[in-house]
Amino acid sequence: MIERFKCSVSRPSYRGILHLSVRHELEDVDGVGPATVEKLKAAGISTVEALAVAPTRLLIEIADLTEEKASTITKNARALLNIRFTTAKEVLSRRGNIGYLTTGSKAIDALLGRGLETQAITELIGEFGSGKTQLCHQLCVSVQLPPDRGGLDGRALFIDTEGTFRPERVMSIAKGLGLDPDTVLNNIIYARAYNSDHQMLLADEAVTIVPENNVRLLVVDSVITHFRSEYPGRESLAPRQQKLNRHIHQLLRMADIHNIAVVLTNQIQSSPDVFFGNPNKPAGGNILAHGSTYRIWLRKSKENRRIARIIDSPLHPESECVFAITQNGIIDIEETK
Ligand code: GTP
Ligand code: MG
Repeated sequence: MIERFKCSVSRPSYRGILHLSVRHELEDVDGVGPATVEKLKAAGISTVEALAVAPTRLLIEIADLTEEKASTITKNARALLNIRFTTAKEVLSRRGNIGYLTTGSKAIDALLGRGLETQAITELIGEFGSGKTQLCHQLCVSVQLPPDRGGLDGRALFIDTEGTFRPERVMSIAKGLGLDPDTVLNNIIYARAYNSDHQMLLADEAVTIVPENNVRLLVVDSVITHFRSEYPGRESLAPRQQKLNRHIHQLLRMADIHNIAVVLTNQIQSSPDVFFGNPNKPAGGNILAHGSTYRIWLRKSKENRRIARIIDSPLHPESECVFAITQNGIIDIEETK
């Protein structure tokens, strides 16, 4: 299947936070023989990077390893990749590798500083029709632009849980940016997720697809739909959140290791127990709130106008801006005048 995704975009020399110059295989890790490689691959862990950051409990549960084995091989994988304590100066230089992805609107980009960051999860929250899916389509196109036009010179991977991905929208956005629609469509790797298990399986598969295909943007639209419908009621909240936590951390590790931007969409839920202030809040509870690096709340305004508000960021103050959804995608209000 991967063959179809071969593209002309060259693979980045950047190797995530791990400063790798040599590519290691799972077999290179001390204690990992052919049988363990098979178990790990079957569990979706196909690279040393993925093994190095996999929680021991996960290896015990999904790769059927003993606790001792799991803890030894993750430790050995980290040693092989030289993952260790570092200095703040090194963290700063690592942050120098962060790429920025334009949303199509300078105003939204400015809310985030310079656009969506790689090595981070950006969550788009909003009620139906607020523009979450439209923005995802836009990002799948703009990621293919060169950095001097706000792109990351890479491909997009789209996990669609609601069946609302529309190639036609991608084509009109691509035309608006002067790109060849056919090439742009070929550079979007798409999968429909039919339930939460399938969604998590696709994220596992993405661990291999992302580095092999120069994917620089991973979208999950929406991250919460299946979890909400499969785990209704308070009594199923704990298992749901546990599973969601595993999913979000898998995505966060991918963002970090492969220096990609991860975008999740999330719905609004109303909390009947709120008497003051906004009775609506993002679904997914603390797991999503803590897992996302940046949270943007989208609201409808007049006609095709929408308001984007940044509600959670380690770096930026809460602020908002107006943008518009047009035939050619997301644009600034000034451009519509
Ligand atoms: P849910 O997935 O239902 O929660 O909503 P969402 O936030 O994903 O909404 P989505 O991004 O699908 O936004 C849908 C809105 O985008 C529609 O109501 C339209 O107003 C607008 N839209 C979609 N396509 C076009 C288009 O080709 N031109 C214009 N001008 N607007 C469009
Ligand atoms: Mg949508």
